[in-house]
Amino acid sequence: MGENTWLYTLSQQLTINKVELTTIANDFRKEMQNGLEGKASSLKMLPTHLGRPTGSERGAFLAVDFGGTNVRVLAAELAGEGQYTIKHQLSVPLTGGAGTPDYTAHTTNADTLFDFLANQIGQLASPSLKYRLGHTFSFPCRQTSVNHSILLHWTKEIATSGVEGQDVGCLLDKALLRQGVTNVKPVVILNDTVGTLITSAYADNATDIGSICGTGHNTCYLEPLPPLGNKPMIINMESGNFDLLPLTRYDLLLDADSQRPGEQRLEKMVSGRYIGELVRLIAQEVINIPILPYGLKSEDISLFLADTTPDLTKIEHLLAEKFNCATTHLNRANLQTLSRLVVHRSARLAAATYVGVLWHLDMKMQHNHTIAIDGSLYEKMPGYAGHLQDALVEVTGSDAAKIHVRLIKDGSGIGAAIAAAIAAKP
Ligand code: GLC
Repeated sequence: MGENTWLYTLSQQLTINKVELTTIANDFRKEMQNGLEGKASSLKMLPTHLGRPTGSERGAFLAVDFGGTNVRVLAAELAGEGQYTIKHQLSVPLTGGAGTPDYTAHTTNADTLFDFLANQIGQLASPSLKYRLGHTFSFPCRQTSVNHSILLHWTKEIATSGVEGQDVGCLLDKALLRQGVTNVKPVVILNDTVGTLITSAYADNATDIGSICGTGHNTCYLEPLPPLGNKPMIINMESGNFDLLPLTRYDLLLDADSQRPGEQRLEKMVSGRYIGELVRLIAQEVINIPILPYGLKSEDISLFLADTTPDLTKIEHLLAEKFNCATTHLNRANLQTLSRLVVHRSARLAAATYVGVLWHLDMKMQHNHTIAIDGSLYEKMPGYAGHLQDALVEVTGSDAAKIHVRLIKDGSGIGAAIAAAIAAKP
């Protein structure tokens, strides 16, 4: 196929136009409604038993944040009026440490993983003090109370054995005991999207949507009329599983080789865990680059997009050093173009789902809404935040003036500390 034909066809397949954006937003809104009414839906609409913070939560709290890439532990001091400081923190990768197990592989069991988490918590906690802890666990969970949550199934290709179907609150409690960390009491479990919403809402009470555009992709929002209870409650939609989407051949290929074929369709088109692989799958058809499955990471895609050198030398060096692969200028230019298409599509799809939530909450867009977003893709991928904003404006027109998108760095960790303060309130 000629260069132009190939690029033209690809860009047709990967471009989500305004009509499609609007259709996706509408379908997303309907799926939310179906999920809330207990009808079949690709959105799980999971209750969190948490509402919005008041902003006056105060005190010292610990947080542990487990999302599949690193485990982070932090000690935060909440000062009220939306103010907080992180006093100490540590972050350790879950895979790839020399001589340590891959905590995300099926060869690791639940106790080994949770002992590791408990151990990290023990390292940050001073033995002479007592702490309450918020536990961010960023996977689909059926939350039975504020501190009990059952993992429905893993996502993001995590496979640690013996955790699915278990109460992750109990797993952590037992591990803390085994590790002798008896001065730390977990009081709340939450999803990272919920932590992000709560962190933003701590200072800005127009926040009603929290989302992650990072390794994974998911969104939660504050439901004014939740099926459970009579107070507004944050609902974790697990929107990465949304599936009314225009799929390409490459999406189907990626899905077929994933751990959970047919599931997490949106996440597989949007998130950092998968976009490198999408680029690789497309590239291997048209450019002869010998890269193994999942060899391209979203950091590589960031570098591809950021390379403004005339000869694309940054891309050339990365491919030579990491994959021992020699490329022509045309190869590199094509790689950059198709990376741009994949990233552009990711940002636009995420934006369309946010519009779906906004239409569910406020069809006439009479109020201000803050969308809080955390995650490496939104924060670091060149052009991402701009594409997302453009798509919001494209679909909502002048209503976009009411929509404020904020980057909430570390929201998933700090949000756990704030949630612990909410849960610990008498
Ligand atoms: C995956 C998880 C979800 C999480 C998201 C971002 O989609 O299923 O719970 O919020 O990744 O980390």
